Amino acid sequence: MKITLIKDILVSEPDGRTVHVYGWVRTKRDSKNLCFIQVNDGSCFASIQLTFDREAAPAQSAASGTDIENELKKISTGASVHAEGKLIPSPASGQAVEVALERLEVLGEAPAETYPLQKKGHSFEFLREIAHLRPRTNAFGAVARMRNQMAFAVHTFFQERSFNYVHTPIITASDTEGAGEMFQVTTLDLAAIAERGIKAGAKGMNPNKAADLVDYTKDFFGKSTNLTVSGQLEAETFATALSRVYTFGPTFRAENSNTPRHLAEFWMIEPEMAFFDLDDNMDLAEDFIKYLLNWALTKCADDMAFFNERIQKGLIDTLTQVASSDFKRISYTQAVEELEKNNERFEFKAYWGCDLQTEHERFLTEQLYKKPVMVYDYPKNIKAFYMKLNDDGKTVRAVDVLVPGIGEIIGGSQREENYDKLLTRIREMNLNPEDYQWYLDLRKYGTVVHSGFGLGFERLLRYVTGMANLRDVIPFPRTPKSADF
Ligand code: 4AD
Ligand code: MG
Repeated sequence: MKITLIKDILVSEPDGRTVHVYGWVRTKRDSKNLCFIQVNDGSCFASIQLTFDREAAPAQSAASGTDIENELKKISTGASVHAEGKLIPSPASGQAVEVALERLEVLGEAPAETYPLQKKGHSFEFLREIAHLRPRTNAFGAVARMRNQMAFAVHTFFQERSFNYVHTPIITASDTEGAGEMFQVTTLDLAAIAERGIKAGAKGMNPNKAADLVDYTKDFFGKSTNLTVSGQLEAETFATALSRVYTFGPTFRAENSNTPRHLAEFWMIEPEMAFFDLDDNMDLAEDFIKYLLNWALTKCADDMAFFNERIQKGLIDTLTQVASSDFKRISYTQAVEELEKNNERFEFKAYWGCDLQTEHERFLTEQLYKKPVMVYDYPKNIKAFYMKLNDDGKTVRAVDVLVPGIGEIIGGSQREENYDKLLTRIREMNLNPEDYQWYLDLRKYGTVVHSGFGLGFERLLRYVTGMANLRDVIPFPRTPKSADF
């Protein structure tokens, strides 16, 4: 049987044709003669209205009227139903069509006494505790559809520009960002190792000498491995063969940041382009963000109207304006000069060499320039080892894209393509050159200028939807002390 989605029924001609509706009941309103049921199947924001007219029922088959009454008794918010009826023009405002009910079948009841979404208006905090049911609310249905659309837009943007989608590994032996915020992957039996340590202690050996107790050559991969924090280094191997590539996958960071801007598991889009310098990289990043905003504004109008109305007033105007104006580009040194002039506003005083705090990023985008800002040429000491060193020997060709309300949404750079300089940086950062031999090889054989960046997918979604917390734009958020679903 072919099932028609509610989004398609809603735009059909209300010419009395028979339609079948499948979905979950949002509300039921019963009066003496009339009963209205709103049914939603998640295919679009709107629900469809089923109308049961008791006065008209005897004119239909009496049996069907009785059957409908029996089924209606079982219906409460959350119940799943299959309804059949005629599609007619709706006299109610805000909807063009409705279904005059002729047959109703309750597929699964949702007992009102226990169904957690019986009432409307739950807080997002509460809804996080029922992450398995929250997709059935207006807000999370809309977020899920936006997430899907934005993923589609990401692929379309790159495919239209001849980028190849590369799947980089999830399990890796290298730490891309060198920040040591990785989740270890191991099949070693930690309890057994601890027990050996205790026994060793009893025998008078030093149980604190980890190397004597933990033998990674016996681990699954014969070495210590982690979940990836970024697919960039592996993407570079393909960019220096296919010219333009991108990854789009899950990344994992064990940073203990309990903020609305951080997740322990998040999705990142990382394009990597051979023969692109930092300016080309910034042009691409700006085009990319504008493309994604335009997609949201033009292809997701109903969901965007909801976010604009209920989540962040003025969102559509703001995004429309951003999509059509130039981003500000300033060097880190210029940015710090501006921040120092305003240091009295900040809890953390800005100075040359400091990492920009969220309050600084927000000042630049929300107060000073009132638009997205690209800050480039950061001090090398606060950035990753792979970024191209400038001639001043102090700064690297990094760029962060900051947007109002969010702060950093993109981090990227031109990569160091000089073998000797890269090796020096690896040593300076106390990394082991042996671990990066394959990465150094890319500079040894046919090296080229190349660049790339990483867009945090959830930060993008937060920007586009106006939702206040990253935990509410990913289906099942993972954060410190929380991985319940
Ligand atoms: O700035 P980051 O750390 O850059 C990289 O990982 C580079 N390897 C990217 C590249 O050049 N290919 O992270 C990139 C973006 C950030 O700007 C932010 O949007 C997002 O990833 N991000 C996070 N999103 C959610 N939770 C976290 N804990 C995040 N950490 C970074
Ligand atoms: Mg960053």
